Amino acid sequence: MPELSREIRPAEELDGQALIWNKILSITDSLVLKCAVKLRIFDAIHLHGRPISLPTLCSSLPTPSLRPSTLLRLLRYLSHIRLINITDDRPPSFSLPPSSSAFLLSTSKQSLASFITIFLDEDFLGAFHALDVCLREGAGEASAFEMVSGETVFERAARDPLLSKKFNEGMAGSGRITAAAMVEGAGRVFEGVRMLIDVGGGMGAAARVVSGAFPGIRVLVYDLPHVVDGLVGSDGVEFVAADMFVEVPQGDAVLLMRILHDWSDGKAMDILEKCREAIDAEKGKLIIADIVLAEEDDDEDDELHHARMASDIMMMAYGGKERTKSEWSSLLLGAGFTRCRFTPINALQHVIEARI
Ligand SMILES: C[S@@+](CC[C@H](N)C(=O)[O-])C[C@H]1O[C@@H](n2cnc3c(N)ncnc32)[C@H](O)[C@@H]1O
Repeated sequence: MPELSREIRPAEELDGQALIWNKILSITDSLVLKCAVKLRIFDAIHLHGRPISLPTLCSSLPTPSLRPSTLLRLLRYLSHIRLINITDDRPPSFSLPPSSSAFLLSTSKQSLASFITIFLDEDFLGAFHALDVCLREGAGEASAFEMVSGETVFERAARDPLLSKKFNEGMAGSGRITAAAMVEGAGRVFEGVRMLIDVGGGMGAAARVVSGAFPGIRVLVYDLPHVVDGLVGSDGVEFVAADMFVEVPQGDAVLLMRILHDWSDGKAMDILEKCREAIDAEKGKLIIADIVLAEEDDDEDDELHHARMASDIMMMAYGGKERTKSEWSSLLLGAGFTRCRFTPINALQHVIEARI
């Protein structure tokens, strides 16, 4: 191992040290968030309706006999990572920041609570320990989850009803956020559509947002039997159990919301092929809502950019990949789609409209 030769100033060295300590400890943020959701801390603060004191919070939480001093440490960290506010009073009180509270409550329309619970579940997190294994040549396209458990997330969900329920609820919560942003920021993609096929549409969360905004559209939610069996359609939303690798029904437009990022390029191409067969070559369109990563030479450095980059590694762990704009364009062109239009929306995802 060669000696490190470059002279560095103490301040620079301290920055380097701090950077590494923060990377080592950054898992704390995720797990403190999960702990706060599990204890229903955000719900209790919200229900109180005004800043809440430590003793009142302690007695309002559903878990009995919490230690106030330990709860205070957790609250102090939640405030440090900007998930709650602490007043300057002595003793302090706690409130929710208006910008993020809707995402943290268990019952709000924009709740990410189920998503937090399932994606930070012990079983899922275990996959991150095998990231190195899934990088090996022999692993092919297998995710770390698959390397550890011998099955994909969707295969596991098909034989584990509890995990399936948690997964689908997690997707529905986060899906409502993407769908609402899609309708608000790119609603024109639905103009003229009468029959929309929501491929891999889960429990129909996006379908209900779209049909609520555009009552003239009939939305067919197309997903695996263990996801849609027993779900009852209404208000223009219907459910069909099937496999998108076998067939996609005909429609004016096909929606693929957070679907292609679950799959390798080869499998994504297979799905796109079925979608292409399902839409009219003249008038039909494909609507994709998925993450678009910044290109390597882009100078993006904000919270959304970090979340998108981290999501790509999450897909490496759980299955799939995020793509840059040029990767999306070549995937779509390769599958016979042209005229791709990328629209940023107020969500992690972009909307990509593609025609044959
Ligand atoms: C990441 S979730 C996205 C759900 C929804 N589109 C959303 O954004 O909230 C992927 C969905 O694809 C579905 N799926 C996986 N394999 C499928 C297949 N072969 N045929 C149809 N749906 C499938 C899953 O059951 C799941 O609901």
